[in-house]
Amino acid sequence: MELPKIKIYEEGNKILHQKSKDVTFPLSDEDKLLAYDTIKYLKMSQDEEIAEKYNLRAGMGMAFVQLGKLKRIFVIANEIEDKKFEEYIIINPKILSQSEELIYVGEGEGCLSVNRPVEGIVPRHARITVSYYDIDGNKKTIRVREELAVAFQHEIDHLNGILFTDKIDPNNPYKNQDKMREI
Ligand code: CO
Repeated sequence: MELPKIKIYEEGNKILHQKSKDVTFPLSDEDKLLAYDTIKYLKMSQDEEIAEKYNLRAGMGMAFVQLGKLKRIFVIANEIEDKKFEEYIIINPKILSQSEELIYVGEGEGCLSVNRPVEGIVPRHARITVSYYDIDGNKKTIRVREELAVAFQHEIDHLNGILFTDKIDPNNPYKNQDKMREI
């Protein structure tokens, strides 16, 4: 399997703090291809052997802004069992509702645009309901929870120009930890 050639923009690049714009349909072939290539890249990055061969950091999600395109599109490849993935291409998402319960990833969040260890935790809603368009322009609604809900919120933040590191207070990186459930 050949690694798709995608360029990932890193923190420090101003584009990552810009707000992405809604997409109109039909999606261009270029954007469709980029979405599929990026899912393939994410799946390969989560395979230990391939990751070692290509020197990749594992990632489960990517927003188009991380690829230099200010479009409200993100993709997720969620490994549900060994080498078996749920794939999501989410366009123009809107959070319709969110749980009051907050969670955080105990080991900390990661991002393919942030290539350094980051101390601290990010509060996320345990469950969210999101409306979005699929790659063919069909309107859909999805309810996600736990790790997948964190990934959706992380990616939706990207579309609004926000990195997970922006949500960590460097002077108090574990703020409100006792008010959230660790996952
Ligand atoms: Co990210």
